[in-house]
Amino acid sequence: SKYLETRTFARKLYYYDETDSTNTRAKIVGETDCVHGALFVANEQTAGKGRRGHSWNSDKGTTISMSYLLKPDIDISCVSRITLVSAVALARAFSKVDGVKPQIKWPNDVLSDGKKMVGILTEMSSEGTDISYVVVGIGINVYNRSFPEDIADKATSILLENGKGCDRSWFIAQVSNEFEKLYDEFIKNKDLGFLVDEYNSYLVNRDKQVYVIEGDKKTEYTALGLSKDGGLLVRDADGEVHDIISGEVSVRGI
Ligand code: BTN
Repeated sequence: SKYLETRTFARKLYYYDETDSTNTRAKIVGETDCVHGALFVANEQTAGKGRRGHSWNSDKGTTISMSYLLKPDIDISCVSRITLVSAVALARAFSKVDGVKPQIKWPNDVLSDGKKMVGILTEMSSEGTDISYVVVGIGINVYNRSFPEDIADKATSILLENGKGCDRSWFIAQVSNEFEKLYDEFIKNKDLGFLVDEYNSYLVNRDKQVYVIEGDKKTEYTALGLSKDGGLLVRDADGEVHDIISGEVSVRGI
């Protein structure tokens, strides 16, 4: 794409008119021929994967389904930070689209008007503590006019937000440009200190009450913002600050 300004991200492109899942495609290539920054894009996925074993809907022509294949030289315990980096890249790209005001719901949903517009699924392959590769899969609702009943009031698309959608290849280039810049900065820094303020500027949970659900236990906190290792800083009723780690708990707004 003529809009691409990257060194490695999306320079190698695998395009599918229809495939099972771009994450699956990226993982298969990752096993043999792992080119850092390779991008897998599909016009339609027949077996799109969401988080926690959910499926992800990506009908022909309405969404962007794409996965970056990455070879990060970082500690294996820090891989989830890449997902947070990608969420900010998406928020930056959305800021360039007319009529869309992006928000981030910690850790990594990108919303508009409080409704989900993007889902991100990061998968990793490792040998012991060595990372073989990481796949960051991103699903973006672009031209959807409606959603299945169970998510109808929780999901939105660029079209529903601004009445016109946006050019998909332009948008993919914008995400790639921003993601590469932020990713390089992250690899240099190893932590997210450089990103905290910008991430928090998009954070929909900020200063809001959130529930943290751990098993049967439900605790109410005030969300303060991102911590430099990717957790959510929250304040409890006694004023004490805690760093909530993603994956341990489920955070809901009230
Ligand atoms: C979520 O549950 O919020 C994550 C959804 C991730 C969907 C994207 S679409 C491109 C890539 N390929 C997949 O099978 N899943 C991700």
